[in-house]
Amino acid sequence: MTRPNEFKALVVSETDDKQYLRTITTRTIDDLPAGEVIVQVRYSSLNYKDVLSATGNPGVTRSYPHTPGIDASGVVVESEDPAFKPGDEVIVTSYDLGMNTAGGFGQYIRVPAGWVVPLPAELSLREAMVYGTAGFTAALSVWRMVENGVKPEDGDVLVSGATGGVGSIAVSILAKSGYRVVAVNGVVDEADYLKEIGAAEVISIEEATDTSGRPLLKGRWAAGIDTVGGEILATTIKTVNPDGTVTCCGNVASPDLPLTVYPFILRGVTLIGIDSQNCPMPIRSKIWDKIASEWKIAWLEKLTTEAPFAQLDDKIELMLQGKHRGRTIINLLEA
Ligand SMILES: NC(=O)c1ccc[n+]([C@@H]2O[C@H](COP(=O)([O-])OP(=O)(O)OC[C@H]3O[C@@H](n4cnc5c(N)ncnc54)[C@H](OP(=O)(O)O)[C@@H]3O)[C@@H](O)[C@H]2O)c1
Repeated sequence: MTRPNEFKALVVSETDDKQYLRTITTRTIDDLPAGEVIVQVRYSSLNYKDVLSATGNPGVTRSYPHTPGIDASGVVVESEDPAFKPGDEVIVTSYDLGMNTAGGFGQYIRVPAGWVVPLPAELSLREAMVYGTAGFTAALSVWRMVENGVKPEDGDVLVSGATGGVGSIAVSILAKSGYRVVAVNGVVDEADYLKEIGAAEVISIEEATDTSGRPLLKGRWAAGIDTVGGEILATTIKTVNPDGTVTCCGNVASPDLPLTVYPFILRGVTLIGIDSQNCPMPIRSKIWDKIASEWKIAWLEKLTTEAPFAQLDDKIELMLQGKHRGRTIINLLEA
């Protein structure tokens, strides 16, 4: 398979007064970091972390100019590792992709072979990016919850940040697996959308946030899948039933967790941290296989907005304003 030396990529550059400018510009393969596998990126997707990288967050990206994009699906064009050959369809997410390694907002990436996952037979390159890091994180959260013993008959599962990428896919996978899902939604009213993708009930951020300051509240949920942190996560932990499970992956509301130890020592609640970035490859492959089979969502298109590469900047702005819903995938072949 041949590849051109030049390609287009979104490049974020830093000005002297710490402004971050985003332009689609020409790059060469030689500009890419070292790695064994070169992939022509067909689709990428938009995640909250990409917005942080695209706006100069030093916790995500240390130096600029930089091409964000923590997700990519595409076709191998060159590989120094015998595990991959030109023409192989692959998924590359997590590790350092898009953080300090040029990412999926470019038409080519060069990465270590250890970051590359063969595309499961039941998924297309496009579908893989509808899931992307957000979907993988949602699936990892549900998997950890199920492994901790939570069954559909145990009661309701609360999902926060439900219209977001992680939240939308968590709602969908849980509903498909027979769980009754209560979705927390507040930034933009999207109750109809959430019911379409499987939520049985939608509650507001206010209802999901305790203001009494009490260390424990009446148990309401068998489990919680939290994507926002802060007071909502603390309230979820205080309102989960005895022996309940809460997973925690995000901080869009706040990185703080205002809590006492009582839910843990008086109710046996388990809080499970979710780190998709460093998830070991055997678990990563298992989760992608589940996504492609028993957890494949029939209504995936309801969650999906596809944008051509040229509209990437508009989509970043939308997510910055908190107006983003579900999953946005970027078609790198369509300018
Ligand atoms: N740990 C990991 O491995 C991992 C992997 C992927 C993502 N994440 C994290 O997970 C979080 C969600 O990511 P995402 O890609 O789903 O983001 P997203 O698409 O921007 O969704 C976030 C959702 O959170 C809700 N929200 C936003 N601001 C809020 C606020 N101030 N208070 C309460 N709710 C708020 C909104 O949903 P509603 O309007 O429905 O309330 C929004 O749609 C981020 O913090 C991200 O960094 C972590």
